Amino acid sequence: MEQKKQMQLSLQMVSGYGAEFNAWRMPGADPAAYTNIDSYVERAKLAEQGKFQMIFIADTPALTSSLSTKTPMFPMDPMLALMAVARETKHIGLVATLSTTFNYPYNLARQFKALDVISHGRVGWNAVTTSDPNVAANFGSKPVNRQERYEKAHEAIEIVQALWGSWQEDAWTLDVETGQFADMDKIQPVHLQGEYYATRGPLPIPPSEQGQPVIFQAGGGQEGLELAGRFASGVYANPYDIESAQEYRQTIRQSAAQFGRNPDDIKMFAGFMFSLGATEEEALMRRKQLMDFNPEEIPGRVSYLGSMINLPLSVHSIDIDQPLAPQLLQRAYASPMDPRSPKALQLLQQGLSVRDVLAHGVINYHPVVAGTPVQVADFLEEWFLAGACDGFSIVPDASFDGVADFVHLVIPILQERGIFHNEYEGNTLRENMAVPYQYGVQK
Ligand SMILES: Cc1cc2nc3c(=O)[nH]c(=O)nc-3n(C[C@H](O)[C@H](O)[C@H](O)COP(=O)(O)O)c2cc1C
Repeated sequence: MEQKKQMQLSLQMVSGYGAEFNAWRMPGADPAAYTNIDSYVERAKLAEQGKFQMIFIADTPALTSSLSTKTPMFPMDPMLALMAVARETKHIGLVATLSTTFNYPYNLARQFKALDVISHGRVGWNAVTTSDPNVAANFGSKPVNRQERYEKAHEAIEIVQALWGSWQEDAWTLDVETGQFADMDKIQPVHLQGEYYATRGPLPIPPSEQGQPVIFQAGGGQEGLELAGRFASGVYANPYDIESAQEYRQTIRQSAAQFGRNPDDIKMFAGFMFSLGATEEEALMRRKQLMDFNPEEIPGRVSYLGSMINLPLSVHSIDIDQPLAPQLLQRAYASPMDPRSPKALQLLQQGLSVRDVLAHGVINYHPVVAGTPVQVADFLEEWFLAGACDGFSIVPDASFDGVADFVHLVIPILQERGIFHNEYEGNTLRENMAVPYQYGVQK
């Protein structure tokens, strides 16, 4: 019998708490999870039990939001967090974001390759160009324009890959008899000189079990698509509906083909958030509990919801615990400016209260399912079977219990349906993502 096509799963670690920046206040959560490296390790071990292909740590090296009531959006340091996880896990992939604009390629090459060797070939690098002006300020730079950022990214990745390939696969002889530690004829400089970056090399680190780390990419319009098509084996994306996800996936695949690559060698991961409950009501209660930690934010959310459906909604003019009045709802239409609007309108038309519609996560950064494990599995299955993605980059509302719940309650359903694997296919991230071995610059 032919095996069904199976989705891949990536667990987003955020700053240790989950997708909701109030999660630190949930009963049972560790309020100091940000600095508690054991909490990262525990979540990663759970994800490994659930056979997740990888964990993923996004990063922006700046304080990008106020910490007065909410947790940071990024971990203290992604590479150090992954180093701790690498020592305590055996199979799961370890992917971190680092900027191509604000790091020397040599440092990027060295850190990722060392971690790849230490973890026996489980590392991926999400190469982003970092548009945030707060980051530029932290590096004493003015904001860098998009064209320059992407030109730098092409140079940076090429140099990094060249450095990764500068120590030939059989250079490390370790011949105790003859006394030859390494064959220096096989460890050669790369002599690359670009417009922004240059390196002589070589990088004195041997190959890992997967040759070298896997390149990922995330966002960034046409320039981002080209970067992904040329170099990436994985792409993190944030579509809100199946149609736009299908379109984006096709565009990425075409971009890979234009660079002479097999489109199947580039996997798209759609961002996805969830809140689990034994019933849908219970899941919504959980989200309302999270929302209630900051009641002062509700007026802003209500008026934003209004702008999504073109109605001037305000907490002063409506009762948010009631459905919208039919005469008001009649005038509503989904804003073409926000791809999340159709779902918001649909829920309101079903007669849900404004508070419940907000609790469904219609203003979140990724699509949200607040519901039972079967509802979450249904969503993932529908998107996957529609060819909307090759897998998901999932993030629970609150990770202190959300990761365990997903692993224990949702994964078995996906496995039962034959759309998620029961066991790791191999030992390296490349094997587990089904992307080819690679050494040196992407051909
Ligand atoms: C799913 C997803 C994840 C992203 N993760 C990061 C990240 O961790 N760090 C970062 O600096 N940018 C991240 N980005 C931002 C993009 O790399 C890109 O910079 C952004 O979309 C702005 O586009 P531009 O680079 O063309 O200006 C992410 C984007 C998407 C869609």
